[in-house]
Amino acid sequence: MGTIVLTGAAGLVATAVREPLRRAATRLILVDRAPLTAEAPQEEVRQADLSSVEAVASIIKGADAVVHLAGVPDEAPLPALLEANVLGAHHVLEAARRTGVPRVVLASSNRLTGLYPATRTVSPDEPPRPDGLYGVSKVAVEALGRLYADKFGLQVVCLRIGSLEPRPSEARHLATWLSPRDCAGFVLAAVSQPGIHFATVYAVSANTRGFWRLSDELGYTPQDDAESYGISGADAFFTDDMPQGGDFATPAYTITHGGLDT
Ligand SMILES: NC(=O)c1ccc[n+]([C@@H]2O[C@H](COP(=O)([O-])OP(=O)(O)OC[C@H]3O[C@@H](n4cnc5c(N)ncnc54)[C@H](O)[C@@H]3O)[C@@H](O)[C@H]2O)c1
Repeated sequence: MGTIVLTGAAGLVATAVREPLRRAATRLILVDRAPLTAEAPQEEVRQADLSSVEAVASIIKGADAVVHLAGVPDEAPLPALLEANVLGAHHVLEAARRTGVPRVVLASSNRLTGLYPATRTVSPDEPPRPDGLYGVSKVAVEALGRLYADKFGLQVVCLRIGSLEPRPSEARHLATWLSPRDCAGFVLAAVSQPGIHFATVYAVSANTRGFWRLSDELGYTPQDDAESYGISGADAFFTDDMPQGGDFATPAYTITHGGLDT
């Protein structure tokens, strides 16, 4: 796979993909504003903030792909989400354009469609129904990816990441769980699948009650299923009145975490 840059490398998702990426790549450059230590000869660490195109360009120049995970991963006031998620993604895409990095994998989120009902199967090509301001920021991230693919010819993959957990622990996870193994599988495929111009894919395990259409565009078939963990409460969750985002989709969640007036 050559040289891969992993942003947000100190975070939860990066921790699940770091070792498999390092095994597949000649060189893995780990970027985060938090401190990190290289754990293998292929790894290089850069402690940096992705707050400008120039800062990102100096790090990714010469790479074969960027896996961009840095950002705010949940509901927050919109200015913080615009800064971290939308401007952050723009800095990475624009730096890739300027330096000729051919492929960018963007961390999108299932929360971009969290206001569809839990009884509905949603495809990546259906209109967004974000369940909060965080989901709105990911709509913009995906739109930036599409722009840079269509206008400037970058290869862009938007991964709508499910609920990455060591194991499922609540009824919603019966549909949304993403196992660490499947997370690594999707990210590796997003970096290496040939012939990609632009793709938007739900990265989720092969859950029996999954409510997102799986795509074979990346050539990865997920392996795990939340159904085998004995989780209760499915009857109450999988109803027409329940949004796919569950508690995240309530007004109270956005009022509390998004800094809105009550
Ligand atoms: N964890 C999940 O289940 C999940 C689900 C859907 C989508 N996602 C998306 O995946 C990505 C990673 O999520 P996570 O759960 O690992 O989050 P995380 O908070 O654990 O990790 C994010 C990392 O990004 C770094 N970071 C943030 N802003 C930065 C900046 N400006 N410069 C440098 N580093 C910066 C942080 O220091 C942190 O280490 C996010 O974009 C998130 O929206 C995650």
